[in-house]
Amino acid sequence: AGKKILFLESTDSTNIQAALAGSRGEEEGVLVVAKEQVAGRGRRGRQWESPQEGGIYMSLLLRPTVPPDHASGITLLMALCVAESLQELTTEPVKIKWPNDIVMNGKKVCGILTEMTAQVDYIHHVVVGVGMNLNQTQFAGELSEKATSFWLETGIRADRSRLIAALLEKFEQSYEVFCKEGGSLSRFRTEYEKRLVNTGRPVRVQDGKESFDGIALGISPKGDLLVRLEDQSIRSVFAGEVSVRGI
Ligand code: BTN
Repeated sequence: AGKKILFLESTDSTNIQAALAGSRGEEEGVLVVAKEQVAGRGRRGRQWESPQEGGIYMSLLLRPTVPPDHASGITLLMALCVAESLQELTTEPVKIKWPNDIVMNGKKVCGILTEMTAQVDYIHHVVVGVGMNLNQTQFAGELSEKATSFWLETGIRADRSRLIAALLEKFEQSYEVFCKEGGSLSRFRTEYEKRLVNTGRPVRVQDGKESFDGIALGISPKGDLLVRLEDQSIRSVFAGEVSVRGI
């Protein structure tokens, strides 16, 4: 990962740039990093605030040889690698909110957006975008209730390039295992579940108009969230466009 690195002062979105590289047929491992994004994208069509100061905005181009329905596992894998990389710098707990928010003290320090171009049975390319709040000193308006930065939580000014290098190294190792095992997260499940804020807690799952409550148990090898319903049956929730919140 990160075999070829593209540093940009300012761009629309590193995910867009990495996807273009993917369509041009560039090899797996291209990394796009920007100092600032003017059209940063979040999940569910939201924007991702990407000012010059404090944030890391990066996207990695991948060509995993796993079935398309296992691709969402890459997002969980990246979440785990980000959490572990940050954890190496602090004793403050760094947790994961399923599927891919990294949180400290209940607030988000990093979000991940994975976008895939695929046929029914074949992945053309995957772009994993990571937006990390590293050294921001404040968040405007209502963002401040939900977002935080690593600096705000720890008082540590982490070095961007070192953190990126540590993250890429960790991800590269994990990704190799992940691909070898056909896209299964089995080998990462325990570590992931240890960091998962939802484990053992009541959650509300909102899937379009439908909503149900249950207790989050952990994840499946594909990265689905396993939820125990009131009638004791277990439902698995696909890491797609559903929203899960603690209740
Ligand atoms: C989320 O909504 O939690 C996901 C946010 C992902 C933001 C990152 S920043 C780098 C990459 N480029 C984008 O436009 N988005 C992702």
